[in-house]
Amino acid sequence: MTTAHEQSRNRLVIGNWKMHGNLADNAKLLAALRPAVSTTQIAVCVPFPYLAQASEALKGSSISWGAQDISVQKQGAFTGEVSGSMLKDFGSTWVLVGHSERRSMHAETDQLVADKAQAALVAGLIPVVCVGESLAERDAGQAIAVIERQLAPVLAQGAESVNKLVVAYEPVWAIGTGRTASPEQAQEVHAAIRAALQAIGAGNVQILYGGSVKASNAASLFSMPDIDGALVGGAALVADEFLAIAA
Ligand code: PGA
Repeated sequence: MTTAHEQSRNRLVIGNWKMHGNLADNAKLLAALRPAVSTTQIAVCVPFPYLAQASEALKGSSISWGAQDISVQKQGAFTGEVSGSMLKDFGSTWVLVGHSERRSMHAETDQLVADKAQAALVAGLIPVVCVGESLAERDAGQAIAVIERQLAPVLAQGAESVNKLVVAYEPVWAIGTGRTASPEQAQEVHAAIRAALQAIGAGNVQILYGGSVKASNAASLFSMPDIDGALVGGAALVADEFLAIAA
């Protein structure tokens, strides 16, 4: 069965709040986002404790929400972990998996990231699988090889699974640095990801770019043929800036 999400490459902009926010600031940000009307699909991935707040503030709006990580386990003695069904309980649509900050600071392997994507799909969530090379890897001419390696265990899950997820290309050297990949640099990698997806029959999966996306560079990135939207960190914490990216 093809869901509405599958096989469509509509523009998608997701905010990644990372470990930012508090009840008072979130309330202002969510209230400013809530009225947004856009042909772009807009979402926010918030810290776990604020999922209830996001669902209260955004329900009935055009903006969807989700989390930044998920356990591969369904339930049990896994202290500190949060399951997919818990995320669903709060109306989540999305969950980030394999963000570079989790790969590097929490030693998440390519296989674990793929397993998290699978856990998300089983729970009825849309995983946003993040991939990206470091500066040293790029300078060594390894960018595309690294991304193919990161994606391999995800693609091994087959077209039926892969057609239900989103990929986000986030070069590590562009995250939070103010240094964006040029549209051409990003497009080169997006085209390689598209080819890898096409090879397994999942060529219409949305591929987002992430890394210092701002209102001032969004349009040039979005003009590239294989860039379907953005995963936005810092700029997602400022309502006007975030909505300007989506616009
Ligand atoms: P940034 O973060 O937009 O602040 O660079 C992007 C991300 O890490 O998802």
